[in-house]
Amino acid sequence: MKLAIAGGTGLTGAHLTARAAARGHDVVVLSRSTGVELLSGAGLAGRLDGVDAVIDATNVTTSKPDVSVSFFAGVTKSLLTAERLAKVPHHLALTIVGADAAPDGYYAGKLVQERLIANGPTPWTLLRTTQFHEFAAMLFHRGRAGMHVAPHGRVQPIAVAEVAEHLLDLSEGEPAGRTPDLAGPREEDLLAMVRAYAHAIGSRGLVAAMDPRGAYGHALRSGALLPGREALLGRQTFAQWLDALPDA
Ligand SMILES: NC(=O)c1ccc[n+]([C@@H]2O[C@H](COP(=O)([O-])OP(=O)(O)OC[C@H]3O[C@@H](n4cnc5c(N)ncnc54)[C@H](OP(=O)(O)O)[C@@H]3O)[C@@H](O)[C@H]2O)c1
Repeated sequence: MKLAIAGGTGLTGAHLTARAAARGHDVVVLSRSTGVELLSGAGLAGRLDGVDAVIDATNVTTSKPDVSVSFFAGVTKSLLTAERLAKVPHHLALTIVGADAAPDGYYAGKLVQERLIANGPTPWTLLRTTQFHEFAAMLFHRGRAGMHVAPHGRVQPIAVAEVAEHLLDLSEGEPAGRTPDLAGPREEDLLAMVRAYAHAIGSRGLVAAMDPRGAYGHALRSGALLPGREALLGRQTFAQWLDALPDA
């Protein structure tokens, strides 16, 4: 198969790219560092010729709803337009379990992305997953000058490697619409995860609790970001992920 991986240089995208190549697929990476600006569509012409499926793993780091909406809407529209012209038969994207519970920040863009895909011209598959184990590392490294903060929150984190394998399985099948959610094997407290990560990498600084207000804070505390009973569960626990860190 020929797969195009949008955001193929990012955290999820790099796993997708390496694992797709290991499965014997022909891979085209679409990102600014490979000459494709997906907000404007510049550099996209011709890149989707002969592609069997596009997997969108692009991302923007923001908590502002307008920034998130303009990013995910812009990228999705560019991809869907190029897919229509190149007659690509399958568009896949990755979104987040419980996104509807906190539509006032980053998740606003994920919901717009889902809507555009569901109403778009390309047959599609959407996978919602929970937070990745790496989310703890991302929150920790946002801290500056030894000041680290993280919220308490009910999450069920998943290994990004398992997310990538599952997305590739889906890309090898027929477009399936909204597929069962994918989550990690057990519930964790987000603040405890960030503190365990800090300990694992030898940081002696304090990670203070700072709970976000608004719908996102409520969603984290209430369990709205946890998977339902019908979700598929991955295998690697957060503790196993920590043990496997190269700097642990
Ligand atoms: N992190 C989590 O816990 C989590 C959980 C569930 C779902 N997700 C979803 O997983 C997806 C991937 O997230 P991630 O954390 O793996 O992403 P990431 O590491 O932040 O990577 C983002 C990718 O997007 C590319 N990109 C950004 N702006 C671009 C632009 N204007 N044009 C072209 N490429 C652009 C980047 O490459 P260049 O910089 O080279 O352009 C990079 O390859 C997101 O949709 C996210 O919502 C994440």
